[in-house]
Amino acid sequence: MQEKENNDGIVFKPIFKVVLLIFTSFIIFGALAIIFYGPRQTQVDITEIDPELLENGVHVRTGLIEADGLQTVITNCTTCHSSKLIIQNRMGEEQWNATIRWMQKTQGLWPLGENQKVIVDYLTKNYPVLEKGRRPPLTDIDWYPLEGK
Ligand code: HEC
Repeated sequence: MQEKENNDGIVFKPIFKVVLLIFTSFIIFGALAIIFYGPRQTQVDITEIDPELLENGVHVRTGLIEADGLQTVITNCTTCHSSKLIIQNRMGEEQWNATIRWMQKTQGLWPLGENQKVIVDYLTKNYPVLEKGRRPPLTDIDWYPLEGK
């Protein structure tokens, strides 16, 4: 007796079709959800630093701390002068913006556009004004008279 051949190739049972449909829609909607609601690139600075140029969280050539915006700072701020000038200056947002304006007016620094915020954020976060430059004053001192006076 000869077995009857199935000429349809793969037979999709109706249930299988439904599963396939659900599966495909999951992938499509999943992809759309990631595109529309996924993590957004908020930084203008999308270039990543070559890990080989870093050592212990510090960019070896410039000595700048590795953090968001590092590449933007390197590109815009280390062409005219050493990064030491940046590192030794600790300022707040206002002062950094004023320093940048001063360099733009008098030293030929180019307009930074959106990168200015990236740079100032980097600087204020990684090189903040040091609150405690000196030993805080002593409190709770138990004074006593010196003997022999
Ligand atoms: C077009 C050249 C140029 C670029 C680019 C540049 N600077 Fe300067 N900057 C200068 C010059 C010139 C000085 C004065 C140097 C001196 O006094 O020896 C200076 C001085 C400074 C000082 C010291 C200011 C002070 O009050 O003593 C800081 C801090 C500084 N720059 C930070 C930056 C930062 C941050 C960037 C990136 C946004 C940057 N610079 C980009 C030219 C530039």
